[in-house]
Parts: sequence; C-alpha cells; structure tokens
Amino acid sequence: MSTVPNLRRGAASHPIQQVLERLHRRFLPDRRGRLASYIPELAAVDAEPLGIALVTIDGVVYEAGDTAAPFTIQSISKPPTYGYALRDCGVAAVLRKIGVEPTGDAFNSINLEPETGRPRNPMVNAGAIATCGLIHQEHPEDGFARVLAHISAYCGRELVLDEAVYRSEKATGHRNRAIAHLLRNFNILEGDPEDGLDLYFRLCSVAVNCRDLAVMAATLAHNGVNPLDNRTVLGGQNVRRVLSVMASCGMYDGSGAWLYDVGMPAKSGVGGGVMAVLPGQFGLAVFSPRLDERGNSVRGLGVVQAFSQEFQLHLFHGERGLPGAIRAHYSGAVLGSRAERSEAETAVLEAHGGGVRVFELKGRLSFGSIELLVREIGAPGRGGVELNVIDLQRVTAIDDAAGLLLAEACAGWCGEPRHLALTGTSHLEDFRRQLHERLRDRLPAPRLELLFRFADTEAAMEWAENAILEAEGCGRDPMSEVPLQSQELLQKCSPAELAALRPLLEPARFAAGERILRADQGPGGRLYLLVSGKVSVILPEGDGESRLRLSVLWPGSAFGEIAVLDPETRSADVLADTPVQCLVLRMEALGRLPPGQAGAIQLKLTQGLARLLARRLRRVNREFRALA
Ligand code: DON
Repeated sequence: MSTVPNLRRGAASHPIQQVLERLHRRFLPDRRGRLASYIPELAAVDAEPLGIALVTIDGVVYEAGDTAAPFTIQSISKPPTYGYALRDCGVAAVLRKIGVEPTGDAFNSINLEPETGRPRNPMVNAGAIATCGLIHQEHPEDGFARVLAHISAYCGRELVLDEAVYRSEKATGHRNRAIAHLLRNFNILEGDPEDGLDLYFRLCSVAVNCRDLAVMAATLAHNGVNPLDNRTVLGGQNVRRVLSVMASCGMYDGSGAWLYDVGMPAKSGVGGGVMAVLPGQFGLAVFSPRLDERGNSVRGLGVVQAFSQEFQLHLFHGERGLPGAIRAHYSGAVLGSRAERSEAETAVLEAHGGGVRVFELKGRLSFGSIELLVREIGAPGRGGVELNVIDLQRVTAIDDAAGLLLAEACAGWCGEPRHLALTGTSHLEDFRRQLHERLRDRLPAPRLELLFRFADTEAAMEWAENAILEAEGCGRDPMSEVPLQSQELLQKCSPAELAALRPLLEPARFAAGERILRADQGPGGRLYLLVSGKVSVILPEGDGESRLRLSVLWPGSAFGEIAVLDPETRSADVLADTPVQCLVLRMEALGRLPPGQAGAIQLKLTQGLARLLARRLRRVNREFRALA
C-alpha cells in the first residue's frame, strides 16, 4: 500500500491526541451492532478494529487505534463521486437527474420523485447510481479510473479497488440492480443500466483506511484543497454543494437527528467507515465495522457524537468565528511611523495625526470581522488628511463574504474624504487580484492606486505623515541639505564651537541602496551626522520583507550613536534609502579639539546624544502602549 507523503503527526502530548486515545479506550469495549451481511465478502471481515483519525486543514494528523487497517469505502464514495459529477457534467445536468431533498428513508430505499422519477438525493443508492450513470455517459471508457483518481486526490495517495468485495457486490446486489432498472424506466439512467451500476459497485469497493477518510474530510473542510499537498481537488462552490447534501442526507433516515445532535456534515459506509467535516477546521474519521440497523458504524457514530459534544463543535454553534480579528487599532496621533521627526514635526503630527488610523487584523477574516472593521472605519472622520490603513500582514485567510463586504465598503466610501490603504498583502495574492477586479470600475484611479500602493504599514504611515506635514506648511525635501548649526546633536553648540568641530568632520557619500553600517561589524566609535537623504535602521535578523525596520532617519538626525557609547557593539544595519551625504565624526578626533573648548563641546555632544536616545526610547514606549 502506498504511503501518504507530507503527513505531519500531532505531538503525543497534544490534548487532541489524548482525547482521541481516551475515546478509543472508551468505545473499544462497545461490541453492539452486526457486520453487513447482505454482501458476503463484508460479512467475513474482522469486526474488532477501531480507528479514529483527525486531520486539521493545515495537514496535521492525530490518530488512535487501527487507522491504517484497510476496508472498503462503500457509501463514503458517494460525496466525492457527486462532486466529480458536478464538476465534470455541470450542476444543471446533475440536478436534472438527481434532487437534493432528504428521503427520511433507508440508504437502499426505492423512493423516487413521482413526476420525474428523479432520485431524491445523491447520498442514497438511487441517487448515487444515477450519478454513476451520468459519469459513465461522459466517460464510457475510463469513468472508474477518473473517479478513482479523483477520490485518491482527496486522500493524497493512490487508492486501489478491492476486487473480492467488488465481485461480491456485483454478484449479490439485486436490490441495487432493481433500482437501476427502475431508473432506466424513467430515463434517469440512459443506455444499459448495468453500466452505471458497475461503476457504482466499483466505487463502493475502493479500499481505504481511516486516515484516508480523515484526509478526505479535511480536504472538504479546507474548501476542496488537500491539506497534505495543497492541490485543489474540487472548487469551493461544489464543495459547498457536496457538504450540503452530506448535512441533509448523509446519514439517511437518521440525518435530521444527526444534524440536531452532532451538527457536522457526515457520511457513513457499510464497510464501517464514518467521516465528518467541520468546515474551515478539520476532518474526522472513524473505522469500526459493526453496524446499527441503519447501516451506520455503531462505534463510529458514538465517537463522532462524543467528540462533537465534548468540544461543542456543532456547525450552528453561534460562538464560532466571532470577529476578534482586530489585533491592534491606533491613530497616527498616538503612534507615528518609524520616520524620525523633529520636535516641531512631532508636535504637528500629534495635533493633526488623528485622521490617520491603523487597523492591524489577524487570523481568518469572515463576514463578521469585516462588518466590525467597516463600522470602526466608518465612524465620523476628523477632517484633514484621513487615511485608514488596513494591515493584513497577520491575516491567514479571507473568505468570499469578507472579500465582497470589503469591496463594497471601499466602493461606498469613494466620494468621501477618507482614504484606504491595504498593507501586508503579499501573501494574499488571490484576494488582492479579486479586490482589484471588483473595484477597477467602481473607484477613481487615484484611489485605487493608493489602496494598493504600500507594501507595509510603515510606508503608508510615512506617506500620510508627510502629507500632513505638507498640509500644515512644514513639509520637507529629504534631499535638501541640513547645515551644521541645524544638526540635532549640535543644537546647543555656539558658532565658535561649531567652527572648532568643523575640521574634524569627514564628508562621506553613499548611493541609494548602499549599506552604510553593518550590525556587529566595526568600526565603532564613529558618529554619522545626516546632511541630506534618508537612511533606514534595520535589525540584522531575517531577510527581504521580513527584516524589521526600526526607524527612518531624515537629514539633521544622527546614527552610529550606540557604537559611540559602547564601541563593542553595532546593533543594527543602516541602509541608504536615497543618495546620502553624511559628516562622520571619529571619536578619537575629539582629542584634536582646542583644549579651551574640548570639555564644553564634549559635554554638549554627550547631552545631544542623551536627547536623541531619550526621544528614541519615548517612541518605543509609545509603540508598547499602543500595542498593549
Ligand atoms: O449499495 C450498497 O449496498 C453498498 N455497497 C453501499 C451502501 C452503504 O455503504 C450504505 N451506507 N451506510
């Protein structure tokens, strides 16, 4: 038997693992029920095994008991076969032949719509045989190979037919044969009824194990994407259709009570398997061959029910997916960008930065989370520069409803002063593309451009701050030179002191993109005064986008100060964002200052450094407060 690649096992100490083992111990002694006897080959299997497997939508497997023991899939082939037909033959063609109403009857009931002869749904035998007939019509040569490959893709490994069970079913399936002929009578099956029937028998006889079914259930939970190999097996719309009929009809005449008590779409098979799906969360499967009078695994139902009730997993449990998606929310008046500003600029931004707001979102975004966000953003604005930055860096997924609602909100605000920018979206390529398509004709081009302009929140904040400073008449050009007397560190120096310092300063130029300083590499003891251009101070850890930018320095500021105070260390990289001009002061050069001035100049420099550090520390404190 081929093995499943990319299987990640949950830790033995994980509570889910412990719960599955506990359920295994609890249900193992339950020997109620009987083997399916109407198929001779099934009556001969070992009745004792019990396997339980749970697979999360990110592909972690927890399992207990006989999860690798093979058995035949039986009716659990019905959901993936239905999905295949929806995809391959089209929804309309499938609905013409098979309904979606529960029967309230047994799996092998002969209960067709009186007018049309349509089977009631694809989860009972009549519906599944009709589905197989449709597939056979499309692919008379290789229908089985195709659906087998499709079911294998759900499980993430190549499955094979159990020949003995297939022959046994085919030889004894008189009731199914009767159903097929009745369907032929109503032209639901076209051509020889034996063809669709043969496909049905084969698909019931595919050999699987408990783990396979849990992976299949997880694929359905993961919107049709197999969590082990990330391949899309079935599109989201069809997954929804498959899960709907599983929820309403998957447990036959027990479907209503199942939904009421357990609340997970599920499917059972007379081979002893049960699979259940909690959409967006996980797939669960149980294998235990003894069946109740309805043909469902006794222990299988017990385990799934106990698990659902223990963790309150019912699909309609109202607390699931409550928003909680706003990780942090702050305004530009409280916490600015990491661009270092002068005291005057900081005062302007504190007074006028309230229109700039950042919403950091996290996790999976749903309708509810975006509704909340839109309400927050929609609160009356303050006038001036209004920019709402929605930071999606920590968002793992955005469902369709959330995407649509966000698009509507963006389009709705089109005539208002508030602007929107989405940041941290590089990992959400599909969402970006869809949103862009939805808004292309609804937003004026400049707004659309702004929405997608900034890679990160930092860049958006800095842009908004520059716009505010511009609007308040204190905009600056980073390329215009700041003279020595206006350098922050030297503010308190007299003209005579500046004149004494000037010969010690060495001019240096750097090209845009050049690394000026490298963390942990000398030479220390040099202070850089920034004359023109902008530099970024960056933590050395990580690479590319993941590198953390500590600050952006503008002309008039200084860097290299940590290694001046503590020559052993350089704590960060410094990169030139634009062409840069600096004046470099080597600490040892201070020895050349005229003796009469040296003491005062050194004191003022030290005081300047202390001011600089105090300002940087204040910024970090503000960030802490905003995020706490
Ligand atoms: O149609 C049959 O008789 C079987 N091969 C499949 C039925 C089945 O698994 C019913 N499920 N609980």
